[in-house]
Amino acid sequence: SKAYEKNTITEDGQLLLKKAERDQIETVWDRYEAQLPQCGYCEMGLSCRVCVMGPCRVDPFGEGPQKGVCGADGDIIVARNLCRMIAAGAAAHSDHGRDLVEVLAEVAEGRAPGYEIKDMEKLKRVAAEYNIETEGKDPLKIAGELAHAMQEDFGTRKKELTLVKTAPEKRQELWKKIGVMPRGIDREISETMHRTHMGVDNGWQSLLLHGIRNALSDGWGGSMIATEVSDILFGTPAPKLTAANVGVLKEDQVNIVVHGHNPVVSEMIMLACQSPEMLKLAEEKGAKGINLAGVCCTGNELLMRHGVPMAGNHLVSELVLTTGAVEMMIVDYQCIMPSMGDVAACYHTRMISTSDKARFPGMTHREFHPDNARELAKELVTAAIENFENRGEVYIPVEPVNAIGGFSVETIVAALGGTPQPLIDAIAAGKIRGAVGVVGCNNPKIKHDYGHVTLTKRLIENDILVVDTGCAAIANAKAGFKVADAIEFAGPGLKEICGSLGIPPVLHMGSCVDNARILVLASALAKAMKTDISDLPLAAAAPEWYSEKAVSIGVYTVASGVYTVLGPMPPITGSMNVVRLLTDGLNDVVGAAFGVEPDPEKAAVLIRRHIEEKRENLGLPF
Ligand code: SF4
Ligand code: FE2
Repeated sequence: SKAYEKNTITEDGQLLLKKAERDQIETVWDRYEAQLPQCGYCEMGLSCRVCVMGPCRVDPFGEGPQKGVCGADGDIIVARNLCRMIAAGAAAHSDHGRDLVEVLAEVAEGRAPGYEIKDMEKLKRVAAEYNIETEGKDPLKIAGELAHAMQEDFGTRKKELTLVKTAPEKRQELWKKIGVMPRGIDREISETMHRTHMGVDNGWQSLLLHGIRNALSDGWGGSMIATEVSDILFGTPAPKLTAANVGVLKEDQVNIVVHGHNPVVSEMIMLACQSPEMLKLAEEKGAKGINLAGVCCTGNELLMRHGVPMAGNHLVSELVLTTGAVEMMIVDYQCIMPSMGDVAACYHTRMISTSDKARFPGMTHREFHPDNARELAKELVTAAIENFENRGEVYIPVEPVNAIGGFSVETIVAALGGTPQPLIDAIAAGKIRGAVGVVGCNNPKIKHDYGHVTLTKRLIENDILVVDTGCAAIANAKAGFKVADAIEFAGPGLKEICGSLGIPPVLHMGSCVDNARILVLASALAKAMKTDISDLPLAAAAPEWYSEKAVSIGVYTVASGVYTVLGPMPPITGSMNVVRLLTDGLNDVVGAAFGVEPDPEKAAVLIRRHIEEKRENLGLPF
C-alpha cells in the first residue's frame, strides 16, 4: 500500500512493514513520525547542553538570545556540537579497532582458542609499516609486536600515527602544514572533549581544524587498524558469490542472524554453525541445516570474507524479526536499535548481546571474550537450534537477489593484473570517467534505499565506477547491481571495462570501517599518478547517513581530498560561517569540501560536474 511505498523502495521492506502493522509491531518509521516536528534548534545545531549554566539555545531569527549563558555564540555552539559528533564517531570505529588489536595480542599469547593468523602475508606487510622486523621470525611473535605497536597508536606517545604514512606524500605535507596530522587516536578524541568543554577552545575555526585531526585519526588510524587486523585474523577478502534481502532466510533451516559491527563475535558464530556436530543436532530437531545471515556491518564482514548472505540493512533490522523465521539474533555493537528486544518479544526469536560495552533491553547478555568465544559460540548455536521447534507462523515474502562481494584493494589490484595502471588508463581514456564511494547508513528522513540506489544507478550509467560499503552496499546488492550482468545498467565505457574483467560496475568493499580500504585505493591511484588524491576524478556520497560515525567518515574523507555529498543535512545550519567553511572554504584548506543534497538525482549531477572539472584540470578528455 501507499504508506509502505513512502517508507522504502524495497519489496521485502514494504511487505514486512505490512506484516509488522498486522502484528502490531512499532517500527523506526512509527517512532520517527511520533517525533515530528523535531526540535528546530537542535536541527540547526543551535542548542547546547555542554554545561549546567545551560541548557541554552541561540535564536536563529536574531530576535531572541544570540548567546548562551557563558557567552558562546551560534558559531561556537555549532562547531562544538559538530566536533563532539566527530569524537563519538571516531571513538566508535577506533574502539572497534582496539578490540581487534586485543584479540591479536591474545592470539600471540596463545590465549584465544579458535582465533588464528589467517593472512600471513598481510601480517608481514602491516608489520613492515610499523618497522617490525619479520624475517625468520615466528608469526606469533610478529603478531604480538604488531599488536603492541598498534596499541601505541592509540596513546599519546607518538608525534604521528603510523599508517598515515601510507597516504600520498603531498597529502601528508599538507596535513603537517595546516596542523592536522593526527598524533594518537585516543588523544585526538580526548582533546576534542577537552576543547569543547565550556571555556576552552572558543574559536570556531580552530575547533573545526581539530575536528579534522580527530576524524583523520579515525580514517587513517582506528578504522584502518580495524580493517587491517580483521584481514590478518580472518583473511583478506576475495570475490565471492552471495545473496541479499530478507529472502536469504530459509523456511526449513535454523536461521541465526548476526547484527552489529565487529567480526570478532560473528566469525566464531560462523565457525560454530559449520561444525558437523551442530548440523547433526539441527537435523535431529527437524531442520534441514543451519542458515547464518547478516544484518549491517558485522554481516558485511562475513559477506566479504565468506560469502555469508545479507538479510538487510539498518532500517530493516526490526523487520527481519517480523518474518518469525529467526531462531536467534546475536548482536555486538553499533547501530543496533534499542527496540530490537521489544520486536523479538512478539516472536520466538532469542536475542543475545555479547559485548561488555553494549547492553540492550529484552536481550540475554552472554559476554564474549577471546578466551571463551569458541565455546560460547557453540553454546549459543545449540540454543538457537533448540529454539527451532518453538517457531510460529513464518513469512519470508521474497526471493533473494544474487550479489558478488569481497573486493578488497588487494583483489581489485590483482584483477587488474597486479597494478592499478589499467584502471588509470581506463580513467585517462574516459572509458571510466571517475570513481565514487557510495557509503553510509539508512535514515527514516530519506526513503529507505532510494538515495543509495538512485545515486548509484545514475553514476554507473554515466560511466562512473562505484565502490560501496556499509548499508549503502547492502542497498545496492538488493537492487541487483552486484552481479556480472549488472554491466547492463552501466554506460558503454564502464560496461566494456567491467565486462572484460568479469566484475560488476559496483564493487562491494566492505563494512563502514572498511572505508579505510577506499582511502588505500585512492592513495594507490594518486601515488601511481604522482599526484595528490584531491586532483583525481573521485567523489564520495553518504545519501542516507544518520550516525556520528558517518560524520567522522565524511570529515576524514574530505580532509583526505575527496569531495563528499551528504544526503541529510548535518546540524550546522545555525552557523552560516560553519556552513560556508564546510561547503566551500575547505577547498582552500584541504582541496575538497562537502556538498549537501538530499535528492539523489541532483546529487548525481553535482558529482558528475565535479568529476568533469577534475578531468578537465588533469587535461583528460571530457
Ligand atoms: Fe549554555 Fe555555554 Fe553552558 Fe553551552 S556551555 S550550556 S552555551 S552556558
Ligand atoms: Fe556500519
